[in-house]
Amino acid sequence: MLSDKMLSALNEQIKEELFSEYLYLSMSAWCDANDLPGMASFLKLKSEEERAHAMKFYNYILDRDGKITLLAIDKPQSEFNSFLDIFENQLKHEQKITGTIHKLYALSVEEKDYATQVMLQWFIEEQVEEEKEAKDIIQQCKKIGDNESALFLLDDRLGSQAPNTEEN
Ligand code: FEO
Repeated sequence: MLSDKMLSALNEQIKEELFSEYLYLSMSAWCDANDLPGMASFLKLKSEEERAHAMKFYNYILDRDGKITLLAIDKPQSEFNSFLDIFENQLKHEQKITGTIHKLYALSVEEKDYATQVMLQWFIEEQVEEEKEAKDIIQQCKKIGDNESALFLLDDRLGSQAPNTEEN
């Protein structure tokens, strides 16, 4: 049985993951509107990955006989300055999510909730991957500068690269 505190924090995390889904879809729409179809499709897949993260928490709460309480999702940012701005925002957002996952873990330790600690291990590892991926893309965006051919190649590469969804 989940403690009230743990249940409430897990329901809050569903909201965080669904907001991530919404934010990355908004980023994807910006890329589509700015002739970056590869980045648009990459971010749409990232958005779908976030939905899967939300559902992992959702299903875990049900497995522990907890009550799902869906919370209001904020409006995501819809204007960005450039593709570099998009990925810098994505990294900042992932760092914030890493913080929320770590807080959940700290709470599960405090509550002596061993099952939740095991469940959260996957997310702790996933956040390392997510932050690394965003940092790598930012580096590549910075190298591009005003080079249109290099931008075309990066856009094409991201479009053909499905994010790692094997464990979702
Ligand atoms: Fe669900 Fe990208 O963290």
